[in-house]
Amino acid sequence: MQYTITVFGLGFVGLTTSLAFAEKNHKVYGFDINHQRVHLIRSGKLPFAEPGLDSALIRHIDKNFSITNDVEAAVQASDFVFLCVGTPSDEQGAADLRYIYSAIDLFSTILNDGKHRVIVVKSTVPPSTTKERIIPYFIEKGLTPGENFSVANNPEFLREGKCWDDAIHADRIVCGVSDALGESMLRSLYSEFDAPFFPVSLNTGEFIKYLSNTLLATMISYSNEMSKIADVIGDIQIKEAFRILHLDKRWNGSNMASYVYPGCGYGGYCLPKDTRAMHAQAVSKGYDPLLLQNVIEINESMPRYMADKIKQAAKPSNRIGILGLSFKPGSDDVRDSSSAKIISLLLDAGYNNILAFDPVANEAFDRQYNFKEITYCNSLKSICESSDILVIITAWDSFAGIDRKYPDKLIIDCRYFL
Ligand SMILES: NC(=O)c1ccc[n+]([C@@H]2O[C@H](COP(=O)([O-])OP(=O)(O)OC[C@H]3O[C@@H](n4cnc5c(N)ncnc54)[C@H](O)[C@@H]3O)[C@@H](O)[C@H]2O)c1
Repeated sequence: MQYTITVFGLGFVGLTTSLAFAEKNHKVYGFDINHQRVHLIRSGKLPFAEPGLDSALIRHIDKNFSITNDVEAAVQASDFVFLCVGTPSDEQGAADLRYIYSAIDLFSTILNDGKHRVIVVKSTVPPSTTKERIIPYFIEKGLTPGENFSVANNPEFLREGKCWDDAIHADRIVCGVSDALGESMLRSLYSEFDAPFFPVSLNTGEFIKYLSNTLLATMISYSNEMSKIADVIGDIQIKEAFRILHLDKRWNGSNMASYVYPGCGYGGYCLPKDTRAMHAQAVSKGYDPLLLQNVIEINESMPRYMADKIKQAAKPSNRIGILGLSFKPGSDDVRDSSSAKIISLLLDAGYNNILAFDPVANEAFDRQYNFKEITYCNSLKSICESSDILVIITAWDSFAGIDRKYPDKLIIDCRYFL
């Protein structure tokens, strides 16, 4: 069965979702309010670095996948509407739903035309949001979800840097559903994907996503807490200790083990905001989540902890070379990057001789943070040769071996990587 789908939001999740459905031979219309992003995508270029997605875009643009300006016509023709817009933290740490509402405002007027569609919330929203906030939002507009159209959620589990592979070879498809027709349409849409399909209640669908992200955040904060304990005790080979921990057969070689490893805190778009949102959601429902509170506090303490280590080793006049600016290797996403927090603390303390290098994210970092005082280097060699002290903040593979290549350089390895 070939479906027509409109996707709102063409970021990591929306663009990947659009192209994955296009790859399965569905007809996909994409819409985004960011004109610069739209312009790039239309010309066949990705707005971010994402291996595999670039060739998928070239394969499908203006064929199965087209950008639309006429949202109403696209939704009119569609069987599914996917909402993949951002859900950042608001001032209290809760998920800000304004982009979801603004997307709904663009197409809600045509939902009463007699065609049954499924409106799918793919953005990450805290458990109970679809049921208690999004469905009521449609009802306030005089619409009848469940009758004229179905509302569902479908959390996304892709990892940045592996978006395409994770979408095409998904390990599970989870759909929070509210009626049988919506469930069967989603089951049919995903039938081309070789992954188990789990229809669950609306709240369960959302909960599963937070179960995943808060567990990852917890494992990272646990590891960081243990690294701090090891530091105060002293004479503990932290890197070695964690590597030996991973040899436990109970991990069974799992990739998950890499999250039980210390560093300078989790960053990026998802783990910080989703952990805060789950915490805020629990508090709003009357439960004070002690573990999540500490996971967040440990994470927030890490940039200062690392900046203090650098300050102990360096004088303000030293040239400090920051290696890695993206929030993780394999990506040029610099949202909530540890490097930005550490650089900011160093600048505040009068360390103004900062050099920086990332294999792919120099430009994105400069655009987002606009630190006037730092000098960007265009190669690993140039930053290593020009700095007095090197600080590894993102564990890019290409940084391996710099300790052997520059044996006289002091290197502070915030990722226990070398
Ligand atoms: N990035 C990830 O690794 C990841 C993984 C799983 C889930 N998620 C979740 O998916 C959602 C999207 O994340 P992302 O990383 O793709 O975000 P993103 O910031 O890369 O993209 C969101 C896009 O939505 C657009 N947008 C905002 N309002 C709009 C509107 N009314 N109509 C059309 N477009 C609109 C923005 O311009 C932007 O391009 C979030 O809820 C996020 O938590 C992200």
